[in-house]
Amino acid sequence: MAQACRPIGCRFSFLPAEFTDRDGRRILLKAQQSGDFFALMRMYEEFEPKGLAQGLPPVDRQLTARWVRQLERDCFPLVAVHDGRIVGHAILTELGQDTSTELAVFVHQAFRRRGLGTQLAQCALRCATTAHCRLLWALVQRYNQAALRICHKAGFSLTEDLLEPDLELRLPLTRTPAPAAPGVDLRLTPDYKPH
Ligand SMILES: CC(C)(COP(=O)(O)OP(=O)(O)OC[C@H]1O[C@@H](n2cnc3c(N)ncnc32)[C@H](O)[C@@H]1OP(=O)(O)O)[C@@H](O)C(=O)NCCC(=O)NCCS
Repeated sequence: MAQACRPIGCRFSFLPAEFTDRDGRRILLKAQQSGDFFALMRMYEEFEPKGLAQGLPPVDRQLTARWVRQLERDCFPLVAVHDGRIVGHAILTELGQDTSTELAVFVHQAFRRRGLGTQLAQCALRCATTAHCRLLWALVQRYNQAALRICHKAGFSLTEDLLEPDLELRLPLTRTPAPAAPGVDLRLTPDYKPH
């Protein structure tokens, strides 16, 4: 059955979706629901490192619980489920016609480097496009190679490097894009450090 996006009530015919990671593990991608609360709490209790993406996920358990509830209420989060356990989370802050929405992706460390972050980002992009969002953006620490790579593969670009620790990456979703400003090639920014 197609899954609904609560904030605007639109349905995504492609959710839930199944994905097999590079270790052959079958993972279900679906919209977060209230029943996912405890499984999400478990993922974030184990999650390392905490606080890497704008202080998220929170280090404190109570703050994590509040954050997870708030996402469910105000945002459009996707979860990745393996064997009944949540192992990944992609968050779109807003979803709707002409909105500008922020993307953040979190993958449990036991499931990283197997393609799941890429799949979650691509699935979130598809949701944003289907909901007719205007712009997808992400704030990524400049040394976070994995996050930069998944954004680059989804088509995000860095339009201006202000030499801040966080880079703002953007992906306009208009169907007839305006001429692009000269971009910065994410692969060429010289000061990435492994994380
Ligand atoms: C960023 C994150 C979601 C990526 O998830 P993932 O499941 O490992 O991503 P993928 O397996 O799809 O890997 C994406 C690419 O990054 C590369 N990559 C992954 N980890 C890397 C690392 N530590 N260093 C360098 N490259 C890395 C992969 O090789 C892959 O490249 P490829 O497509 O050329 O093969 C995950 O590392 C994470 O949860 N980090 C902590 C939270 C965070 O920083 N989120 C970003 C907020 S936007």
